[in-house]
Amino acid sequence: MKGVIFNAVEEAVVGLYSEDVWDDLLEAAEIDGHYTSLGSYPDSDLTALVGAACPMTGLGPDELVRTLGQHAFPHLADRYPELVDEAAGTHDFLRRVNDIIHPEVLKLHPDAKPPEFEFEDRPDDVLRITYRSSRRLGVLAEGLILGAGQRFGEDVDVRIVSGHGEEITVFDVRAVKMAIAD
Ligand code: HEM
Repeated sequence: MKGVIFNAVEEAVVGLYSEDVWDDLLEAAEIDGHYTSLGSYPDSDLTALVGAACPMTGLGPDELVRTLGQHAFPHLADRYPELVDEAAGTHDFLRRVNDIIHPEVLKLHPDAKPPEFEFEDRPDDVLRITYRSSRRLGVLAEGLILGAGQRFGEDVDVRIVSGHGEEITVFDVRAVKMAIAD
């Protein structure tokens, strides 16, 4: 997995907890943890980090990965502000991730393997998203979707329709603009 994802996860942990907690996690996971954005690192580092973080936080693996995705999103997005600014809202942005952002990642890093998404408009403003990846990180996608919703000021509801933790996971994503308080 590209270092940019580990960098965003590190920033999420430091923002939620502290630098010391990140260092403790690396030590507990027995990994070096010096990630450069352009480097590539074993997926097993992410598994080891999650394994170490669960007992430290008391969160289950799904909740932990979802939370990390949600809090990593702003850091990932900050590296590509123009890509985010061009999108009209969460649904439009998620289509752009698949059509523009992940393909750009591939052009820059031919060794990357971002997931593939398919989209289907459903009634009641629901966007049905099919996630495909041998990494089985649909829960990370769920967290990133929640983070994207926050970025666009939308209240996002994500439901897993099928394939939780599988190579193919189907989500229904509903995004509603949040009312602005007076
Ligand atoms: C500015 C926004 C984004 C950027 C720059 C970005 C970039 C990347 C990069 C560099 C990777 C690593 C691929 C690899 O090393 O093989 C990745 C993986 C991933 N991305 Fe994105 N991404 C963005 C937004 C999103 C969003 C909104 C979602 C959720 C729908 C998403 C879902 C994922 C998932 C789940 C992975 C993990 C790999 C996998 O499941 O196979 N990304 N992304």
